[in-house]
Amino acid sequence: MLLAFVLGISRGHLLARDGVDVEAEGRFAVLVDERVGTGRPVAYLIGSREFWGLDLLVDERVLVPRPETELLIERLAQLLAEGRVPRGPLVDRGTGSGCLAVAASAWRPVLALDVEADALQVARANAARHVARGRVQCVQGDGLASIAPASVAAVLANPPYITASEFAALDEDVRVHEPRRALVADEESVPALYTRLLAESLVVLLPGGWWLSEVGAGQAEQVAALARAAGLAEVAIRPDLAGHGRVVEGRRPEPSPPPG
Ligand SMILES: C[S@@+](CC[C@H](N)C(=O)[O-])C[C@H]1O[C@@H](n2cnc3c(N)ncnc32)[C@H](O)[C@@H]1O
Repeated sequence: MLLAFVLGISRGHLLARDGVDVEAEGRFAVLVDERVGTGRPVAYLIGSREFWGLDLLVDERVLVPRPETELLIERLAQLLAEGRVPRGPLVDRGTGSGCLAVAASAWRPVLALDVEADALQVARANAARHVARGRVQCVQGDGLASIAPASVAAVLANPPYITASEFAALDEDVRVHEPRRALVADEESVPALYTRLLAESLVVLLPGGWWLSEVGAGQAEQVAALARAAGLAEVAIRPDLAGHGRVVEGRRPEPSPPPG
């Protein structure tokens, strides 16, 4: 990836190529030294990362989008195709690079929220690059407080779900280079994080609207129980390609028809 970046060609073209010039070799060596010496992730070194077929700008202000997060988009696409999502806009809570918002905007307008102004600059740049003006609206805010009640068709979230103690055990590449606020929740525990996210989501969701959240390894059953306790219906766990529960979903119940 680093050599393809230096040469300005795709990885496929790189395989078909025979040799590189000295100048490119020198620039490649500098990047390899930085990767090996400092552990800086490749996505930051080359300034981009692919997500859902989109080439997204990334730097140290945002989390590098992970392939397993595409599962949220896959599930949203399924629900939309089945006609099970009420009319209305979508919300991406904690947008970071804007990966979820930009991908989801193929179907609906998206409100992309983040508490970090720095991260929103990256999300805005990605929206400007890939999306028609106004289709993704980037707004700074803590949680979902800025959204009108019962106004959104789905809340997508990939919250910072690593606890402070797990953070210490993370790979150095992640711990040193990726933004701490994108990884570690403000809340003191995983239940506290999801309890708040669920409560805020239930306020802003339209009846029949969907809550779709990524969860950390081993958290799915606990989060599904919290989702049921919060009052969501149709709660389910969706596994990633490795078979680990990765997305928890649920639906704000429709009001029951009056008796008689
Ligand atoms: C795990 S990252 C996810 C980024 C991106 N959505 C993705 O999937 O790659 C979590 C994001 O949530 C943001 N965040 C953390 N606490 C927040 C809060 N209280 N309200 C809104 N956003 C928050 C962080 O700044 C970070 O960008």
